[in-house]
Amino acid sequence: MLEIQKFTKIIAANWKMNGSINFINNFLNDLDDLTFENINDQSICIIICPPFTYSYLIANKLKNCYLGGQNCSLFLEGAYTGDVSASMLYDIGCQFCIVGHSERRTIFNETNNEVSIKATNSLKKNIHPIICVGETLQQKNDNRTKEVLSKQIRESMNDDSNNDNTIIAYEPIWAIGSGLTPSLDEIEDIHNFIKNEIQGYENYKILYGGSVKSANSKGILNLDSVDGLLIGGASLNVDEFNKILSF
Ligand code: PGA
Repeated sequence: MLEIQKFTKIIAANWKMNGSINFINNFLNDLDDLTFENINDQSICIIICPPFTYSYLIANKLKNCYLGGQNCSLFLEGAYTGDVSASMLYDIGCQFCIVGHSERRTIFNETNNEVSIKATNSLKKNIHPIICVGETLQQKNDNRTKEVLSKQIRESMNDDSNNDNTIIAYEPIWAIGSGLTPSLDEIEDIHNFIKNEIQGYENYKILYGGSVKSANSKGILNLDSVDGLLIGGASLNVDEFNKILSF
């Protein structure tokens, strides 16, 4: 597995169910041309998480970036029509896998326990899980954010997780795809809460996600407690993504 502690910043692109072969060819051409003039720094980890169907195509073309899955099966192998296992992701070169994204939790009813099983499956196959947590707007307005995050983190982590193999992504659900973001102080407060007040997480890498774009990425990345970004919509626009990467 990679030594994730050596990375000063980790920037993951979550393409969700978007893209096409044509899109990917153009995106990778433009990413190579523009971005890597700026990034020669091995301490920056860039991860592209495409839809499964395009993963192998990208695995063969990616330079200077790592490949990630957006999800993996609860099961290791067998009669689970439509599923993709962690070992299949590893087989094609994935070193990361997003697990427990709020869209999976909300639309597909994934529970903390299922997220922890998916994290276990990833780790068994030498893939770093990126475990997503975040509160709803209602929970935020009820001042329950920290309580909700503590429970999600404790129950979504597995016994084998540690700061060398697992990444946490804090993604407030109300910020995802909405154009809204917490203030920098709020982001700092939540990341510090996870690192300092939930026992055992002080050295974990914690990414922020939710409406990150080039106009706000620098400010967020400059926060001491933020180890990187998980980017949805803005990662589909290569110019935006290049600007975010040239922080
Ligand atoms: P967004 O999505 O950047 O489009 O808000 C982030 C995510 O869902 O990971």
